[in-house]
Amino acid sequence: MPVVARPKFGANAEAQIAAAYNNVGHRYSKYADGSIRDLFLFEGRHAYGDSKTWGTIRNKLLALHAKDPKRLRVLDLGCGPGTWLRRVVAYAHRIGFAEITANGVDIADGQLNQARALSHRLAVLDGVRINFSHGDLRRELAADEHDICLCLYGVLNHIPENELSLVMNRIASRSRGYFLATVRTIGSTPTVYVDDVCSAVRFYQDNRNDRLDVEFSDGRRTSFQSHLFSRDEFKRLAAASFTIEDIRGLDLFHGRFANDPRWNPPEHQTTSRVSQELSQLEERYCRDPGFIDRAAHLLLVARHKGMSQP
Ligand SMILES: C[S@@+](CC[C@H](N)C(=O)[O-])C[C@H]1O[C@@H](n2cnc3c(N)ncnc32)[C@H](O)[C@@H]1O
Repeated sequence: MPVVARPKFGANAEAQIAAAYNNVGHRYSKYADGSIRDLFLFEGRHAYGDSKTWGTIRNKLLALHAKDPKRLRVLDLGCGPGTWLRRVVAYAHRIGFAEITANGVDIADGQLNQARALSHRLAVLDGVRINFSHGDLRRELAADEHDICLCLYGVLNHIPENELSLVMNRIASRSRGYFLATVRTIGSTPTVYVDDVCSAVRFYQDNRNDRLDVEFSDGRRTSFQSHLFSRDEFKRLAAASFTIEDIRGLDLFHGRFANDPRWNPPEHQTTSRVSQELSQLEERYCRDPGFIDRAAHLLLVARHKGMSQP
């Protein structure tokens, strides 16, 4: 397929990624986050993975609250429209943290503007300070330390492979607590990251050069960095900067059983019985070496090397 010019790395690479996310505007959060009516209603295509990710974050918030309910400092790297940071702030406020400082960082200003607009109601809550700012993981990050740091859904896939160790080190230097990250795997089903894969008429993931080229149905074309991870690679990277508590696959089966509107008739839906059985299979195989790289994402649960055993 004919594509846009392909500079490999460098400053231009960030501009391409930022433009790709800015161009889709609120369609990103609609496709990725489902319902905006209720932050904790996980529905649609990503419901299974998102609810597992949220369960993990929630458990860490409860552990931090049990230790010190006075304050929580949270950093969301590559926060996009801020959905995960808003979930954290809303829940942390509900369980009674007295002071909550939440910082979201991203390179896509359009996504940051949405995050700010969607956070007004949380920003006025007692003890809450929520801030979204432009920042690049490949450059400097603000110097504050955080109790929990998130880097979710595709952010690290956009970092050039030869910079990943440096980026992980930089993240470790900003968090004195937990680090929770997800990445897209080498065996996952296709994604075009910025929008539903069904909105693309063509795409090509060049795994030799770590680039994804996409042509959307409205004629737009984009091309940006996309590095897919194996569990072993991700584990090695994380272990150099953090103490790893767990790495599991997220969504081995639900996504593969989901309807594809380009092919399946809408009435052919997965029944709730099948869905329940898929959840059991997910639990059984999510750490199995033969299956884990086939998950949609890997979920890393890690903590700062200097943090004592919880
Ligand atoms: C797939 S979105 C995920 C957004 C959010 N974490 C979520 O789960 O909804 C990936 C985000 O990473 C951001 N991103 C990519 N490279 C980045 C970098 N070098 N520094 C900061 N943000 C980056 C993009 O702009 C985009 O908002």
